[in-house]
Amino acid sequence: MDFLNYLDARKSVRHFKQQVTISNEEIFNILNHAANAPSGNNAQPWKVIVIKNKSVMKMLQKFSYNQEQVTQASMIILILGDKSHYNTDYLIANQLKHNISDKRENQ
Ligand SMILES: Cc1cc2nc3c(=O)[nH]c(=O)nc-3n(C[C@H](O)[C@H](O)[C@H](O)COP(=O)(O)O)c2cc1C
Repeated sequence: MDFLNYLDARKSVRHFKQQVTISNEEIFNILNHAANAPSGNNAQPWKVIVIKNKSVMKMLQKFSYNQEQVTQASMIILILGDKSHYNTDYLIANQLKHNISDKRENQ
């Protein structure tokens, strides 16, 4: 399937087959590929939590407008963004660091 067909074919899934399980290896592999995603300053400001514990999933359902798919899925991948990477002080400090090392390399 080429990329444009893939874009047209994708859809959200809200019902999951209970008998299907996804191994930790498969999840690790998918997350490894996902970690190639670009980010500003290449800060990769995310943390990923994989949740398989049903009682934790049930608790998260309450914070998700009580949507049933939150507990029907075999797992939840919680992605946390670290906004501190994008505060002005951090960006300026990082930019200065790069500028200084660029100048050193050009000497
Ligand atoms: C940021 C974002 C949040 C979403 N949140 C939910 C959600 O909480 N529950 C849900 O069932 N679908 C959610 N969706 C899926 C959208 O409802 C869905 O993409 C839209 O209805 C179009 O359907 P499709 O993805 O099958 O093309 C979300 C999509 C995005 C992009």
